[in-house]
Amino acid sequence: MSWLTERPITVKYSLTFEYLTEITEKPMSLFKNHIEHLIQVTTQALDHAGYEGVWIYSGHPTNNFLDDMAPKHSINPHFKWWVPLADVVSSVLHFKPGHKPVVYLNQPADFWHKIIDNSQGKWAKYFDVRVVGHYSELPDFNEEKNHAWIGPPELQPLDEANTNPTQLINFLHFNRIQKTDYEIHCLTQANQLALKGHAAAKEAFYAGQSEYQIHMAYLQACEHNEHHMPYGNIVALNENPSVLHYQYQSREVIPKDQLKSFLIDAGANYRGYAADITRTYAFQDNAYQSMINSLDEKQQMLCQKTVVGQDYVALHRQAHLNISEVLCEFGVFNCNAETAVASGLSQTFFPHGLGHYLGLQVHDVSGHVVDHLGTMKKPPSEYPFLRLTDTLRENAVVTIEPGVYFIPMLLKEISGHKDVNWQKVDEFLPFGGIRIEDNVVVKNSDSINLSR
Ligand code: GLY
Ligand code: MN
Ligand code: MN
Repeated sequence: MSWLTERPITVKYSLTFEYLTEITEKPMSLFKNHIEHLIQVTTQALDHAGYEGVWIYSGHPTNNFLDDMAPKHSINPHFKWWVPLADVVSSVLHFKPGHKPVVYLNQPADFWHKIIDNSQGKWAKYFDVRVVGHYSELPDFNEEKNHAWIGPPELQPLDEANTNPTQLINFLHFNRIQKTDYEIHCLTQANQLALKGHAAAKEAFYAGQSEYQIHMAYLQACEHNEHHMPYGNIVALNENPSVLHYQYQSREVIPKDQLKSFLIDAGANYRGYAADITRTYAFQDNAYQSMINSLDEKQQMLCQKTVVGQDYVALHRQAHLNISEVLCEFGVFNCNAETAVASGLSQTFFPHGLGHYLGLQVHDVSGHVVDHLGTMKKPPSEYPFLRLTDTLRENAVVTIEPGVYFIPMLLKEISGHKDVNWQKVDEFLPFGGIRIEDNVVVKNSDSINLSR
């Protein structure tokens, strides 16, 4: 195998934090059930796709262009579905029905980095863990017959047809939507961590801190390094909430008499599972604060409708009606809410989708897929950014994140529209906008809101 001898092992750190890695007794039985579930689902998936086994590669960091530095490594989600370690590189899981899953765990001898022995955690008893120090200690992947390989481009030792085969991936992705109790536990913990950050951020805002200072207060409160965050924090003061994925954290300390609004969209990571929560605040008690309260009420009603059998596209349409009702209530629309939705006017003020699946990835897989064959259901043409179009199933975890924004670029496109009160628009423009986002576990009734 030429790649075995020619390719140097990429020796990188394996970062661990207790809350990210160690499993206490209580969730241990949840983890056991989770692994049993994965064995069952993967056995069915292999049978469906005509394979006898699968290799799942963690991935490894690759250097930046013309550089010997690599960006933060993002682990293959299929690997972390099985192995609850936050940052593992150059490791391989081997699953073959009827055999205990094997993990070839990379722990190279390395005097540049601290190598933490991850092989002894409680998770390990459900696997045959084999510590490897070099690629040469890995098995010959081509010796196992009729196997598939799931992994990113940096290492793909099997032929193309058996690398990330569509049938197998579709089957697994569709099954990733409905979470096990262990996964719901992880998502709950991620939410609890994020809520600590949100509480600290709110306090920092009312203390008059800059976007950067608020961001740092958030990280400190949830004890995350920046690279542990599931996505870049959106920390937006005054008009900045109107930028949907506002990516800067300004160092400017805005004088309190000029502070108006604060939107924070920030999550947390627990054993590789993501939280994704947004809150919006007014600096003073004014019409904008009342609009936040009104949207918050509507958002909670949408969360209550997030139950088994709900068509998410219909829920997205309902959200358009709700945000139009809010804009009518505050005199921004001259027409009634139904007219604002039917004419497409509401899309100027709510240009993104109501939400998405959440799990090992922030925008979790299969949002536009309706069965294990990968059959697509595209978003309706008027709502191209809707990431989730399926009918909700039990234990899917979704976000519900309606927003009302005053985005100059989009407002310009409807300049002078007769159904808009432009004086009111001018009043709300300096506040940027509002988004309220919770993470909900779908149940038959009384779905669980993890973020409240
Ligand atoms: N934070 C990204 C999103 O809400 O989808
Ligand atoms: Mn978000
Ligand atoms: Mn989201």
